Amino acid sequence: MSDKDRILEHEYDGIKEYDNPMPRWWVITFWATIIYSAIYLVVVGGMGTGQGNVDEYEADMTAWRAAYPQDGGPVDVAGILAMSSDTEALEEGNEVYTKYCAACHAADGGGMIGPNLTDDAWIHGGTVEQIHQVIAEGVLAKGMPAWGKMLSPEQVDQVTAYVWSLAGSTPAAPKAPEGEQVTR
Ligand code: HEC
Repeated sequence: MSDKDRILEHEYDGIKEYDNPMPRWWVITFWATIIYSAIYLVVVGGMGTGQGNVDEYEADMTAWRAAYPQDGGPVDVAGILAMSSDTEALEEGNEVYTKYCAACHAADGGGMIGPNLTDDAWIHGGTVEQIHQVIAEGVLAKGMPAWGKMLSPEQVDQVTAYVWSLAGSTPAAPKAPEGEQVTR
């Protein structure tokens, strides 16, 4: 093909157009993107055998929910009881307690705005599960915050163990017992 053949037919104001082909690398890239988009639609876009973004997201979320149950899963009673006689865990629990709980329950658990946590009278029950539940879910109407939303599940367990360990201690200014007597 001579250069002359590649001059296109039309002419405007004396200007002719030369049929200058796109460079090969450009044409190859152009077709490659089109082929890639077709493969992408089938494999990732959800049109074919691939999972698709939505399904992939749902699968990820299902796995996440299984790994981190939002209701905290079953309360690890044995683990909390073990923690309540483990110095290291109790130290962690004490730290959480001093930071978040002492303002209302007093530093030694004797009670102020919140009830005495050292006696054997409990408004919401005195089992590990019940104490854990009150701490995790709170009693919002009465001014006890839901700590499950603010602390990690591990911290809730630790502070539950710490509260459990307070039983029978003698606070400086104990608040009168509230709720029902519970025997352990
Ligand atoms: C803003 C004040 C406040 C803070 C902070 C607070 N509490 Fe309470 N808490 C209360 C009140 C008020 C109640 C009583 C709820 C009721 O009357 O039903 C309570 C109840 C409880 C009970 C149940 C007592 C029972 O007799 O059944 C436990 C256990 C408890 N709190 C633990 C904690 C722990 C652990 C923390 C820290 C992580 C904490 N609280 C922080 C105010 C507070």
